Amino acid sequence: MAKFLVTGAAGFIGSSLVRALLERGDEVRGIDNFSTGRRENLAEVLKQIDFREADLLDLNAMHKACAGVDYVLHEAAIPSVPKSVVDPIGSNRANIDGTVNLLVAARDAKVKRVVYAASSSAYGDTPTLPKHEAMPPNPISPYAVAKLASELYMISFFRCYGLETVCLRYFNVFGPRQDPSSPYSGVLAKFSIQMLRGEQPTIFGDGETSRDFTYIDNAVSANLLACSAPASECAGRVFNCATGRRITLNETFAALKPLTGYKGEVNYAPERAGDIKHSLADITQAQKHLGYKVLVNFEDGLRRTVEWYKNQHQPVGA
Ligand code: UD1
Repeated sequence: MAKFLVTGAAGFIGSSLVRALLERGDEVRGIDNFSTGRRENLAEVLKQIDFREADLLDLNAMHKACAGVDYVLHEAAIPSVPKSVVDPIGSNRANIDGTVNLLVAARDAKVKRVVYAASSSAYGDTPTLPKHEAMPPNPISPYAVAKLASELYMISFFRCYGLETVCLRYFNVFGPRQDPSSPYSGVLAKFSIQMLRGEQPTIFGDGETSRDFTYIDNAVSANLLACSAPASECAGRVFNCATGRRITLNETFAALKPLTGYKGEVNYAPERAGDIKHSLADITQAQKHLGYKVLVNFEDGLRRTVEWYKNQHQPVGA
């Protein structure tokens, strides 16, 4: 049994990691400042973890949070491309300054390994598909820059201090507990709820924009593997965390129609600033060095996600 610190524990991915670790019998400490995380995400597991409301920018709190910890899974972030375009300073603070504080605390506490929620947005709008880790990054949005800068900090802490770090470049992770309620919410969470409610969803662009949508269980498993893989295979390295298949927004809308019972059409609006057109991962490095496998494909993941939202949003007694 190892001791884990999950940052952003009340968020969508953080709270999924907390559950997976508890199921394995690991000891879990979680921190969140509730800037985007939600208490409900931890409701039924809160008593089983050492939860602390804390901000990454509070170095003292980070030192306390890292004390006695074996592994850190660093999910805390302001995870939005458009939000970073509106507020680059806020994005920089949370996504870079926060990461550096955590790394300093993890180094001082002699944590065994830090696994970081990096982002495929670091690749930017390069025409080459699929994206592989050896490609030069080309970030567009302030968010993508911040996520890439934090990756480089992760690598630098391995090189300078020997702190084992692994970066997982997430490609559009989706699934139960992803917040559908903000204008900055992930597209599948937003569309699922809108279509279940009979509200018309909006596609930004012509709908041929594509993403390597990755169901949450795959991302959870990548994190666990990134902790257990030998250091010689993964320390100081970056891996794509995805499925190796891309789906267009038009296809997601079509797939959601039968699952949600939505009968209407979709609305089209201009593309969002900072968006990239296509995103598709080459996952061979993660397969080779971490033993990563795609556990749940897009269709099964989407079905499970819509089921979850349906159960959450049903009126009491229905
Ligand atoms: C997402 C993640 C980001 C992650 C990145 C790379 C979210 C909120 N953001 O960014 O943290 O680092 O993937 O994995 O999960 N769209 C619509 N209609 C809507 C909402 C969005 O058409 O109502 C479009 C967007 O314009 C974009 C695509 O859907 O073209 C995906 O958008 P979004 O779900 O916000 O994700 P990314 O910006 O790709």
